[in-house]
Amino acid sequence: MLNSAQLSQYQRDGYCVIEDFKSLLSCQQLKQRAEQIVDEFTASDISVFSTKEQQRNADGYFLNSGDKVRCFFEEEAINEQGELCVEQNKAINKLGHAMHHNDPQFREFSSDPKLESICQQIGLTDPRVVQSMYIFKQPRIGGEVNIHQDSTFLYTDPLSVVGFWFAIEDATQENGCLWGLPGGQKTALEKIMKRKPNNEGVEFTQLADNKYDEADFVPLEVKAGTLIIFDGRFPHFSKANRSPKTRHAYTLHIVDGQAQYPEFNWLQRDDGQPFPTFEQLR
Ligand code: FE2
Repeated sequence: MLNSAQLSQYQRDGYCVIEDFKSLLSCQQLKQRAEQIVDEFTASDISVFSTKEQQRNADGYFLNSGDKVRCFFEEEAINEQGELCVEQNKAINKLGHAMHHNDPQFREFSSDPKLESICQQIGLTDPRVVQSMYIFKQPRIGGEVNIHQDSTFLYTDPLSVVGFWFAIEDATQENGCLWGLPGGQKTALEKIMKRKPNNEGVEFTQLADNKYDEADFVPLEVKAGTLIIFDGRFPHFSKANRSPKTRHAYTLHIVDGQAQYPEFNWLQRDDGQPFPTFEQLR
C-alpha cells in the first residue's frame, strides 16, 4: 500500500503521509458517530485528560478504559469548582480506547485491509490492534499535547509500536496540527510509563534525555482523509487549538504480537486474551 517513496520516507524519517487514504464520506460518518457517542454520554464520571498532568489524571477511569469506550474532558472545559463550563458537545477532548473493537462503525473503519498490508510492509510480523482514540481538539480550548514518543505509553520488547493518525478534518497550524521531528525515531526511547501496583496511577521510568529543540520539528498540515503513519519512537506534539475550528483526528496503535507486551503497560485486557488482529476485527 505504501509506494517506494513513502516506504523510504518512513524508514528515513520515521513517518510518512498518505493523502486521500480515506474518503471524505467515511471521515464524515466517523465524525457523526463520535459525536453521537458524546451526545449519549452522561457525565457521571469525569476524568480530565491532560498528558501534562498525567499523574493526577491517571485514575481508574483512565486505567480501566482499555477495553471500553469512554469520554475524557478537555482540561479547560471544567472550572475550578469541577463543573462543566462549556456545552458537553464542545467539552470532550477524546474518546478512548476500544472503539475499534466495541463499536461496529469504528470497527469497520479500523479493520481496513490496507492498514494490515502497510503493517506487513513496514515489518510487523503479527500486527495487533491495541488501542484507538478519537481526538476532538475542540475550538479555543483544545489542549496541547507535549513532545512525546508513543512507545512511552505502549512499550514492547523489542519496540514495535506503530501509530496510524487519520485526519478526520483538515489539520492546519491554526487548529493545532501534528508536529514531528524527522529522523527522530532514531533517538533513544526517552521514558516508559508504567502502571503502579493496585491501579494507583502511573509512574515514569526515565531512560534518556533527548533534549529536543522545538525548532527542529516540522508541522504536518494535512487534508481530511490523510493518513500519517509513524514509528513508536517518532517524537511528536501538537499545540493548543485557539482557533474557532475543531480538528478531529482518529488514531490507532498497533504492536507486533511477536514482541513481549509487559504487564506494566497501562493498557491490559481483562480477559488475558491477545489483542485482536485486523482480520479478527472484520
Ligand atoms: Fe502520540
